[in-house]
Amino acid sequence: MKPALALGTAQFGLAYGATNTHGQVSPDTVAALLNAVKGTVAYLDTAPAYGTAESILGATLSPDHTFKIITKIPAGINSMSVAATLEKSLESLRVSQVYGLLLHDTAGLLGADGDALWHALELAQTSGLVKKIGVSVYDAETALRLLRRYPIKLVQLPCSVLDQRALTSGALHAMVQQGVEVHARSIFLQGTLLLENAAALPPQLRPHQQIFDRYIEKRGAAQLSPLSACVDFIKAQSALAAAVIGLTNLQEWQDLKQQWSTATSKRDWTPFAETGNTAALDPRTWPQPVKVAA
Ligand SMILES: NC(=O)c1ccc[n+]([C@@H]2O[C@H](COP(=O)([O-])OP(=O)(O)OC[C@H]3O[C@@H](n4cnc5c(N)ncnc54)[C@H](OP(=O)(O)O)[C@@H]3O)[C@@H](O)[C@H]2O)c1
Repeated sequence: MKPALALGTAQFGLAYGATNTHGQVSPDTVAALLNAVKGTVAYLDTAPAYGTAESILGATLSPDHTFKIITKIPAGINSMSVAATLEKSLESLRVSQVYGLLLHDTAGLLGADGDALWHALELAQTSGLVKKIGVSVYDAETALRLLRRYPIKLVQLPCSVLDQRALTSGALHAMVQQGVEVHARSIFLQGTLLLENAAALPPQLRPHQQIFDRYIEKRGAAQLSPLSACVDFIKAQSALAAAVIGLTNLQEWQDLKQQWSTATSKRDWTPFAETGNTAALDPRTWPQPVKVAA
């Protein structure tokens, strides 16, 4: 079974993304994108940390839309403030319930306030405001560690043809075995995996040029286009419930939709994985240009 598609919305509320030269997506383009993906994209991934994204969705989505919305509790929010934070998100989104609520930062859950924080999420679920509760992580091991403490049912983590850590470590399989719904994001590594050559890498990624050179060489040898390498890989990951994609214009959606509908690859993708310097795959380690991290 192939993963479903989820549309990421950081680009709707912020000038977010390593290769993003367009800045924040305009409200008209957001409306056009939401209309175009209707019926093909199942989820919308958002967060209060994405600037005005939640209120733009609230203002743009028709009351009878059928998207499953996932939002997040920002970093640094303690158990006492979860209910008020969620209420503000529901107001901005103009909905009475969301499909998923994720902790955007898991440090709180690993700390002294952890049990109270998890209990606050469970309260939101038992009061019918949220269907599934969970975490957004930067590595699968953190999710597995938390799963040993809390009955997490939804996890978002980075995964791409270059970043196969969640697969090769067995963590993804272990989570799915425990009934966790796992969503992958950064399937284009913020757009960098779609570059034709590493010379086009944004300045903050130049120190990692070798990694991208190696990857682009393998991709070329396999006669894969930048888009097909990323899309065919993630579509082949049947353990994933969904793939979160970031888009900044309609043309990107049309290209992606075309590739997604035709991708049938039975390829062994492990040779494309970066296994040496995996720290380079984590955007938190990238020197930040003057853009807000998602
Ligand atoms: N901690 C967290 O929870 C967290 C962290 C990061 C992201 N996210 C979520 O994941 C979503 C996606 O963000 P991401 O960082 O993971 O991005 P991504 O999906 O890996 O890359 C998105 C970028 O890829 C480029 N792109 C997409 N389709 C394209 C096409 N057909 N042709 C050419 N370029 C294309 C666009 O770049 P250009 O701007 O160059 O057009 C777009 O901004 C975010 O919106 C957010 O919802 C969550």
